[in-house]
Parts: sequence; C-alpha cells; structure tokens
Amino acid sequence: MKRYVIVISAVAALGGLLFGFDTAVIAGTLTSLKIYFHLRDSAIGLVVAAASIGCIPGAFFAGKLADQYGRKPMMLTTAVLYIITSLGCGIAWNFTALVIFRFIGGIAIGMASTLAPIYISEVAPADIRGRLGMIQQLAIVIGILIAFISNYYIANASFIFLSLQNHWRYMLAAALIPSLIFFLLLLLIPESPRWLIIQNKLSKAKEVFNKIFDSDKSTVELDAVLSDVKKDSREINFNEIFTDRYKKIVIIGIVFAAIAQLTGINTIFYYAPLIFEKTHVGGSVLFQTILTGIANLIFTIVAFALIDRIGRKKLLLIGSFVMALCMFFIGYLFYARKLDNYFVLIMIFVYIAAFASTWGVVLWVYVAEIFPNRIRGHATSFAVFGNWTANAIVSFTFPVMLSSLGAAWTFIIYGIINSAMIIFVLRYVFETKGVKLEKIEDLYATV
Ligand code: GLC
Repeated sequence: MKRYVIVISAVAALGGLLFGFDTAVIAGTLTSLKIYFHLRDSAIGLVVAAASIGCIPGAFFAGKLADQYGRKPMMLTTAVLYIITSLGCGIAWNFTALVIFRFIGGIAIGMASTLAPIYISEVAPADIRGRLGMIQQLAIVIGILIAFISNYYIANASFIFLSLQNHWRYMLAAALIPSLIFFLLLLLIPESPRWLIIQNKLSKAKEVFNKIFDSDKSTVELDAVLSDVKKDSREINFNEIFTDRYKKIVIIGIVFAAIAQLTGINTIFYYAPLIFEKTHVGGSVLFQTILTGIANLIFTIVAFALIDRIGRKKLLLIGSFVMALCMFFIGYLFYARKLDNYFVLIMIFVYIAAFASTWGVVLWVYVAEIFPNRIRGHATSFAVFGNWTANAIVSFTFPVMLSSLGAAWTFIIYGIINSAMIIFVLRYVFETKGVKLEKIEDLYATV
C-alpha cells in the first residue's frame, strides 16, 4: 500500500522534474543563443526570465482550476504544455517565438509547482506525508542535475548536426522525452481522493483510499475528511481566503514561500557559471556547475531522513543560520579579494548543502500542508505565486546587483536577508510534523 502511494506521488512529482530541468537548462544555452541570434545582454535576461514570468500566472490559476476541474486533468494539461514547450523551443524560428515558448514553459512550471504538492499531500497518510512531499523537491533537484549533465554533454558532443550555433535547440528540446513520459504515466494514476470527496464522489474516493490504506483505516480516513468537508460545505469564494478566519495563515504561506527564494539559492543555480568565472580557481565552469547539482541532490536525500524526525521548524532555523554565515563569509572573501583559493567554492557548496537539506525540502511540503482542505487549492496558488514572484525578482536583480554593488555587497545583503529569515521562522512558523491535515488548522491559534 505504501508502495502504491509512493508510485502515484512519484508520477505527480515528474512535473517537478520538468520544473527543475526547464528552469536550470537555460544557463547552458546562453553562449550558443548569443551567437545564433546576435543577442545583447538585455535579450539574454528576457529569455531567462520569460519562464519565471510564465510561472506567475501558471501558479496563480492552477489551484483555482484544480479545485474546479480536479487535480488530474490539470496535471495532464501541464504535461501537454511541457510537450509544446520542448518542441516549440527546439524548432523556434525566431527569437520572439523562443521567448513565447519559454513563457508557455513557465506556465507549465508554475502549474506543476502548485499541483504536485497539492496532489501528494492529499493522497499521503499523515505519518509519511513529510517524506512523500519531499519527492517533489527530490524530482526538482534531479531535474536540475539532468539539465546540467545534458547541457555539458551536448556542449561537448561532436555529432555532425551539432554546431555551437544550434546547441541550444537540442538542450531545450531534450525535455521532450520526460514530458512524454509524464503525460503517459499520468493517465494511470487516480484522482485525489480528497478532491473526490469534496465533489461528493464518495465511492470513487473510497476506491482510492482502499488502495492507500487497509480497509478499516480507509473508512476512518474517509469519515475524517467527510466530516471536515461537511463542517463547511459552502462553495469557497476567492475573497473568502482573506477573511479573518484564513487571512493570517494565507499571508504566512505567501511570505514563507517567497522568502524561500530570497535565500538566494537560484543566484547559484541560474548564474553558477557567472560566479565561477569570478572565483579564479580555473577548470571547466560547466563541470563545476554539475558539481553544484550533485551536492544539491546528495543533501536533498540526507534531508529525507530528517524532515519527519527533526521537524520542519528546527530544520528551517538551522538552514537559515548556516546560509547566513556562508553568505557573509563569501561576501568577506570578495571584499578582501581572497579569491585565488577554494574557499568561495567550498562556501558555495556548504550553502547549497544547507539549503537543500532544510528550506529546499520543507518548502513544498509545508506550503501544501498548512492550509485547510477547502481552501488548499486557492491558498497554495497564492503561496506559490509569492514564490515565483520572488524568484523573478531575485533572477532579475542578481546580475544588476553584481555589476552595480559588486559581489562582496551582493552576498552580504543576502547574508542579512538570511539572518532576518530566522526571526520570521521563530515567530510565524509552527510545527506540523506528524499532525493530520484536518487538525493543522487547530495550530493556527498558536501563532
Ligand atoms: C526549490 C526551489 C527552486 C530551486 C530548487 C533548488 O525547489 O523552489 O526554485 O531551484 O529548490 O534545489
């Protein structure tokens, strides 16, 4: 039974793998895009940002649509958009077409980042919900690593049809294979039982619960969700999310998801080559980029053991503390111009390890589990919308900060932000480890 729930969660999380792939793949394409389209820096910024911008409406509307039409049909729509994106980017006939297809890809990424956490939290039994939710993050980091490796090989391949000028087509089109697999596997998984209950399709929901739990437990689970839904069965209205009952938790969710990006993690994943060029340690920049992806994966796996044991809040505090120290130290090294050694590189790896084993894994688990059943779709969308808006801000401002403030102050500012996050976590994050979804609302009174 556990195996069944792991498999269906893993299928939903393939949307996350494509999210990781499609966001990280762009870094390796920039050199050949520049040559092919004779691009200026602002146009480079546009093609990188097009996906983050697409994510914002994608995340925003996915929850509402998933509440209306179901989780599964919307995940299938996401898969179709991923397929269109990889084909479209591969054959893009001019730069505008490429930007438009990257934007469509962004819509898919935004949708996937909302839908997979919702789906997984709704099929997961409470005792393993944390670890199951982490499958989404695991898929994202695997997607990032696959993109870095695929870029490295395509950049170094010597097939006749591959010239430096058209590397980018193959790098971007490579997502077609996982996109097709995602689509086909989605056809085999069931609709979320909690959504089915809200729609009053009880016998279908029971069938799904029977596969997840043994039959006694399945009935108890169904009754618990049913009584939760009955407590408040009116249709949820968009504005209601900001009424007194939910306002506080929705704002906490939005801020929490946004500050996960303000850690600055994607300054590394979207701009690693740029940073490594500044550190003077030599060697292949694309290869060092692969190493960041590997560190990210290893420490995400380490976190598997920690999330349901140590709990969300403690992990977040440890993560922010270590990341703040790393950022201050990197800032100092740039300030003192001590760059001809491996310290910056080592600190970047410690920073990635700290993010991956704490914020990285808690982020998508927490965002989906803190909201009550009836507002989860809408509210998760808001939070994920906050995450992508902050992501777009960080990716836009980082190169500008580097050139106007210099690397030292840029990293020191991120050190300050990471320190401030400790205060937010202490004050507003409550522990949800092992608590049933239907009981989490009771914890709101504690913040
Ligand atoms: C999280 C973030 C994503 C980031 C990744 C790094 O999933 O949401 O933006 O790239 O972690 O592992």
